[in-house]
Amino acid sequence: MTATVRVLAPAKINLHLEVLGIRADGFHELAMVMQSIDLADELICDNTADGQIQLSCDVEGLSTGDDNLISRAALLLRSRSGFNELGASIHLKKRIPIGAGLAGGSSDGAAALVALNTLWGLGHSTQSLEAMAADLGSDMPFCVSGGTQLCFGRGERLEACPSPASAMGVVLVKDPTVSVSTPWAYGECRRQLGQDYLVGEEAFEQRRQALRTAPWINPLQPDSPPPLQNDLQTVVAPQTPSVRQALGLLEQLPGQLRVAMSGSGPSCFALFADRAAADEALAAHRSAFVAAGLEAWSCSFEGGGVKLAP
Ligand code: C5P
Repeated sequence: MTATVRVLAPAKINLHLEVLGIRADGFHELAMVMQSIDLADELICDNTADGQIQLSCDVEGLSTGDDNLISRAALLLRSRSGFNELGASIHLKKRIPIGAGLAGGSSDGAAALVALNTLWGLGHSTQSLEAMAADLGSDMPFCVSGGTQLCFGRGERLEACPSPASAMGVVLVKDPTVSVSTPWAYGECRRQLGQDYLVGEEAFEQRRQALRTAPWINPLQPDSPPPLQNDLQTVVAPQTPSVRQALGLLEQLPGQLRVAMSGSGPSCFALFADRAAADEALAAHRSAFVAAGLEAWSCSFEGGGVKLAP
């Protein structure tokens, strides 16, 4: 067993989020392309071997109890191991905004699975960790190995897609005073768009195949940027002024290729040909975001998910 393991847990953005229909389990059937970005939380895990799972965090306003996905992941991993004496002290350095549609909580939970699998010497494969992750949250399996992936089902059915031709740049924006509840966003989607949902596996599979074979994804490249469809944006933006404001300011950035909301929001992003173009656009326009009360980051595509911290 190892004494300390430090891992990075990257955020994700949605390059495509298509709501196909409603499932028998009440979740939505989705067709998505998720992309890791290099804005990451850090988890520092120490072995305690005292049967306790202790979580601390460097920001206020985040529960460090058993409802946190990190604690839930640790407890699930330990119960599957059968070794109840396993313990860990886990410290979370939070960098990804909370309640933002960036899968920050899901990535932290995925990072806990990866880190404790190493710390406790359990030897689970990536596939086995992804299966456990699916029991904890729809976005969590993607966060384990991350990068660029197609995500179907309720988000947990992963399929490989070609790696992007180059790492595109991203400017990410969020109002720190606003968060959107994911169940609310999906509930609104069903209320407003439910009458147009597709029905049946054959119709779902046609849409999945259309996404797999879409020219913009084979491979992703700045010359033919993704259209950035997000069906949740259609219902969240009209009810969330800060999303409309963020999208409006992002559209004005020089060099932006496309703008959209990520996940269930409220964070929004613009794509750029590369990181330098994103840095330059943000540096020139940062004051506009500050004046609007919005936080902004410049980052780029990340080729994978949870990884050991350098
Ligand atoms: O799986 P996760 O805990 O992230 O989902 C949070 C909530 O979002 C679910 O309880 C559900 O209301 C909604 N959801 C959905 N369809 C999905 C994923 C999430 O309706 N595919």
